[in-house]
Amino acid sequence: MSGSPSEDSSAPHLRMVWAQARDRVIGTGDGMPWHVPEDMKHFVQVTRGNTVLMGRATWESLTPKFRPLPGRRNIVLSRDPDFTPEGAEVARTLDEAVDMVGEGADVLGGGSIYAALHDMASEAIVTEFDADAIGAVRAPELSPAQWRAAETSEWETSESGHIDGWDGPVRYRFIRYERIENQTPMVD
Ligand SMILES: NC(=O)c1ccc[n+]([C@@H]2O[C@H](COP(=O)([O-])OP(=O)(O)OC[C@H]3O[C@@H](n4cnc5c(N)ncnc54)[C@H](OP(=O)(O)O)[C@@H]3O)[C@@H](O)[C@H]2O)c1
Repeated sequence: MSGSPSEDSSAPHLRMVWAQARDRVIGTGDGMPWHVPEDMKHFVQVTRGNTVLMGRATWESLTPKFRPLPGRRNIVLSRDPDFTPEGAEVARTLDEAVDMVGEGADVLGGGSIYAALHDMASEAIVTEFDADAIGAVRAPELSPAQWRAAETSEWETSESGHIDGWDGPVRYRFIRYERIENQTPMVD
C-alpha cells in the first residue's frame, strides 16, 4: 500500500466521506455524538449507488435497520475470520479491499480506515460542524500541501440537529477536497 494515486493511473478512485466537529472529531468509538438530519440527507445523496468501504466498528455502529446501507455495495474490513456481516462483503486486508472495489469506492471510515487509506485517496467530501464535540476518534488532517478545497458551501444552520454536549445551534457546511497532483520538479 504505497505511492500516491496520481502515480498509478490504474489505482481505484477512493473518495473519503466524513462529518467532523471542531478538532476533526468524528466519533466516540461506538458512534457519532450528534444527529444532524441535513448531513444524513447529504450523505445519502453523495453515496447513493456507490460501492462503500468501512471498518467493522463503523459497520457495527450503524443502526441495524440501515445495515447494509441500502442501494450501495457494502464492503466491510475485518481481520476476524468469524465475522460474516449479513448483506455485506468482507475484505480481510487493505489490499484485498482495494482489489474488490474495482474502479472506486466511497471510504466511510472510521478513523482507522481513513488513516490507512488517506494516502491512496484522491478526493474527500467533508461535512464540517462549527461546534465542539466529545470523541476520541479523529479524521485525518488534510494538509494544504496535499489537498485543496475545490468546493465549499456556505455555512447553514441545522433546523433540528444536535450535538451531544453542545448547547448552541449546529452550523454546518460541506467541503469537497481534491488531492493536489504531484508537480513535476522545475528544471533550470
Ligand atoms: N463522523 C463520521 O463521518 C464517521 C464516519 C465513520 C465512522 N465514524 C466513527 O468512527 C468510529 C469508528 O472508527 P474506528 O477507527 O474506531 O473503527 P473502524 O475504522 O470503523 O473499524 C476498525 C476495525 O476495522 C477492521 N480493520 C481496520 N484496519 C484493517 C485492516 N488493515 N485490515 C482488515 N481489517 C481492518 C478491524 O476489524 P476487526 O477488529 O474485526 O479485525 C478494526 O477493528 C465510530 O465512533 C464511528 O461512529 C464517524
